[in-house]
Amino acid sequence: MNLSLEQEMGLAARLQRDGNLPAAESLYRKILKSNPKLSTAHYNLALILKNVGKTAAADKSFKLAVKTNPAYTLAWQGYARFLSDRERHRDAVRSALQAAKLLDGSAEASQLVADMLQTAGEAPLGKIGEEALLLTLGRSDVDGDITIRAALQILRTDPVLKVFWADQTPSQSPSPPKLIEAITAPINAAIIANLILPTAEGESLIRTLRDLLLAAETAPNQANQLEAMAVVALQLELREYCLPRPESIAEFRADPLEDAVRSALIEMDAPALYEDLLEAEAERLEALPFTRLLLTRLGPARQKIATLKARFSAGDAAQDTVSKAVQDQYEESPYPRWQGVRHGDRKSLPALVQSLFPRVTVKRLAEEPKVLVAGSGTGRHALRTALRLENAEVTALDLSAASLAYAEMKREILDLQNIHFQRADITRLPEDLGKFDLIECCGVLHHMADPEGGWSALLTHLKPDGVMKVALYSEAARQDVVAARETLQLDPKNATLDEIREAREKLLDLPNDHPAKPVTKELDFYSLSGCRDFLFHRQEQRFTIGRIAKALEDLKLEFLGFEFVDPGLMETYQLAFPSDPFGRRLENWEKVEEMNPSLFRGMYQFWCSPL
Ligand SMILES: C[S@@+](CC[C@H](N)C(=O)[O-])C[C@H]1O[C@@H](n2cnc3c(N)ncnc32)[C@H](O)[C@@H]1O
Repeated sequence: MNLSLEQEMGLAARLQRDGNLPAAESLYRKILKSNPKLSTAHYNLALILKNVGKTAAADKSFKLAVKTNPAYTLAWQGYARFLSDRERHRDAVRSALQAAKLLDGSAEASQLVADMLQTAGEAPLGKIGEEALLLTLGRSDVDGDITIRAALQILRTDPVLKVFWADQTPSQSPSPPKLIEAITAPINAAIIANLILPTAEGESLIRTLRDLLLAAETAPNQANQLEAMAVVALQLELREYCLPRPESIAEFRADPLEDAVRSALIEMDAPALYEDLLEAEAERLEALPFTRLLLTRLGPARQKIATLKARFSAGDAAQDTVSKAVQDQYEESPYPRWQGVRHGDRKSLPALVQSLFPRVTVKRLAEEPKVLVAGSGTGRHALRTALRLENAEVTALDLSAASLAYAEMKREILDLQNIHFQRADITRLPEDLGKFDLIECCGVLHHMADPEGGWSALLTHLKPDGVMKVALYSEAARQDVVAARETLQLDPKNATLDEIREAREKLLDLPNDHPAKPVTKELDFYSLSGCRDFLFHRQEQRFTIGRIAKALEDLKLEFLGFEFVDPGLMETYQLAFPSDPFGRRLENWEKVEEMNPSLFRGMYQFWCSPL
């Protein structure tokens, strides 16, 4: 029987889906013989060849797929992943970028570009790397933080800035005009304005640039100089001015715009002033995009958060003294102050659980889940959940009105309708809260006086067929934090922001082999709220796997498995315990952690469900 082309393609796709790859491969080859320009057949064949390890042939088929149909975005993206897996980073970024351009820079397509930059790390990418970064930076709908290594590599190799990329100011600084030109080069400016530079070297660069700019003479109306100051001020603002203040305070001039930008290099909390300037200087600001961005972040964005905070502030959420202390901390230092949330990989709840734990048979999970995010902070995680779960309706609660205001601001920007934020204390949840199919509580319970009690309170709101995701600090993985606290002898309950600034200096000055030194390698160390949350929390308990196992038993929960961002961590376990490839045994994990104390640096993140 002669099949039509459409029928043959259908049959080949079915064979491919059912795992009969040799038959699918030969059918696609037959189809392509008579239809050599059929891009979908080239693409599907490429995927098969990739799966069976025929790398050179797969490469050829991917190329033919995009050659026969240059607008084939799926093929460009598949090719990008293929190239990235083979460490052909420049080509991978180029392919992902091609797809993103075809899709008008959509959030999902741009996220893939950011992912490719992340895997590229410090690999040289040339101009294509710059173009890719410019697409992803400064967006609320893309997680751009992951591109940091690629971004740092660009600054480190900049012909002018590279001389500062060391512990101390070089004996011969570049002339101010050269410096200003380097800071305002589009790619450098976009990086410095949008990504915290999370290394000691990055901090020293920013401090030097700030001090040089404050000391430099300004010619009146020097547009470039204003932009350079604004770029550095934007970086200081991202870090929440965690650096020691400059030795000499700026002299003020007659130009109100310049005065405002200079003040932002030192720190000034005057949102109304910045808002007024945006209006008064609108024409001049058209040619000053970074100055305008600075005024917007320090003016309207802060005003907006203040207004939203008032909306969430009615009443006092905290129900005990520990909650009160924790609430006060987050009112002053909402955390995390994030920029963009990851888009893409949307799944139903059952499909998500299935993809995380293929061997687990969880009872009838809801296709339209009601989700509770308890302790949602500034909303990054909660908004990601609302985005990634199909048909989900999310309730996100937190103690801190300032954190909820930040989250709500981001919700409005992202225009998400399936999530709402409310103020509440886990120790006394609202009676009308209802029951949920999924409860997520990440990085929260260990900040309570009685974490197991909080966990148990949340479970009264979990449906019997529901699942829960929990993330808790690991004692073993936070030994550098313990060492930092011991070295500094600073009482986190009463530490002021200035004391935290001083403590950061001391930690940066420690010798490299000091047990507390690793804390200076974390992103959180490089902002004030991050550093406070990471090192100087008013209430912190740390867990062991034994304590988690006991809690699961007491709370009558089944352990479904750990969720890792880095699949390599699961491989560590599988290597040690090949008889339990899905990592269900906590007693085994205990042994693996003993051998790799930093395994759970990103917290114990696990899923469980009622027995
Ligand atoms: C480290 S932040 C984590 C935020 C968020 N889950 C995330 O992963 O980005 C901890 C948050 O838990 C909240 N929190 C702590 N104790 C709480 C309680 N008893 N009830 C409600 N929220 C609480 C704090 O206000 C804070 O915003």
